[in-house]
Amino acid sequence: MLEKLAQIEKEALESLAAVEDEAALESWRVANIGRSSPVMNVFSQMGGLSKEERPLVGQRANQVKVAIEAAFAEKAAAIKDAALQKSLTGEKLDVTLPGRAFHHGRLHPATQNLRRVLAILAEMGFQVYTSRDVESDEYNFQLLNIPPHHPAREMQDTFYIDTSATDEAEKQVLRTHTSPGQIRAMRQFSAENPDNPPPIRIALPGMCYRFEQITARSEVQFYQVEGLVVGENITLGDLKGTLSEFARRMFGRQAKTRFRADHFPFTEPSAEMDVECFVCGGSGCPVCKKSGWLEILGCGMVHPTVLQNGGYDPARYSGFAFGMGPERQLMLRHKINDIRYIWGNDIRFLEQF
Ligand code: PHE
Repeated sequence: MLEKLAQIEKEALESLAAVEDEAALESWRVANIGRSSPVMNVFSQMGGLSKEERPLVGQRANQVKVAIEAAFAEKAAAIKDAALQKSLTGEKLDVTLPGRAFHHGRLHPATQNLRRVLAILAEMGFQVYTSRDVESDEYNFQLLNIPPHHPAREMQDTFYIDTSATDEAEKQVLRTHTSPGQIRAMRQFSAENPDNPPPIRIALPGMCYRFEQITARSEVQFYQVEGLVVGENITLGDLKGTLSEFARRMFGRQAKTRFRADHFPFTEPSAEMDVECFVCGGSGCPVCKKSGWLEILGCGMVHPTVLQNGGYDPARYSGFAFGMGPERQLMLRHKINDIRYIWGNDIRFLEQF
């Protein structure tokens, strides 16, 4: 028995010397100190030994077991240490290498300008209100006092969406301007709704779409920001004061404005607001086409029919509305002479903002 134990110890230690990785170590452990390993078998055979033999064999078996276990612990530590060394030398890091340059993301210039417009209007008490891109013919045109066959429709070549609608009013279009949002806002904040009483003072940003040839001057999509104010005793003076103040905040305190009579079916009277050319200061240049003025937005007093379509009694309420193109302002400010740069996604253009 004692000889057998010496043999067990010798074999275990010899085979351990050949172990090099964790997987091999684990199978070695099962075979040599596991429950049915040779040393453990010696322990279970002790019952069959004589009284004299038993303490001697027991003591020796314990020594062997302790020795094998100690060798195992030593080997396990060595393997772990070797793995650590390998990862330290294998993944060497040169801390003197220059860092990798990374590109800063940024907001699209049209978004930057749009946010600027909205921030100024917000300071002036306008709440942002958004409305849908897909509108019915009724909202985009009819409720805004543009009946079928009205010549103003031709100014706004329209993308129609394929539907089965035969009734003109139910045809679906991509909105050609943000003005249909006027009707949606008035109906939501209606004079009869005690939760949302007037006055209304909203800024309505959104993408608009027109079925047009894409050229340096016209795109099929562009942002507009609509403004709408409805309440009691709102006058043309409020319109002029509000929009002139907007222009000063947008283009500088010295910005001069002028209003020219114009026509929109949904406002009466209607006007265009010009701001003195901020490129040449009014003396005349290619950007303002030598006129000294830049056309900035369309505006007017909300037409009584439109107020009525929005659920407001024109005998009691009045209001003004305006619509502007933030990309156009961006182009004027930065002398961008081709509108196709704006949605062309050319990084060389976008990186300049
Ligand atoms: N909807 C008009 C356009 O697209 C702009 C406008 C808005 C004019 C509100 C007057 C009042 O040109």
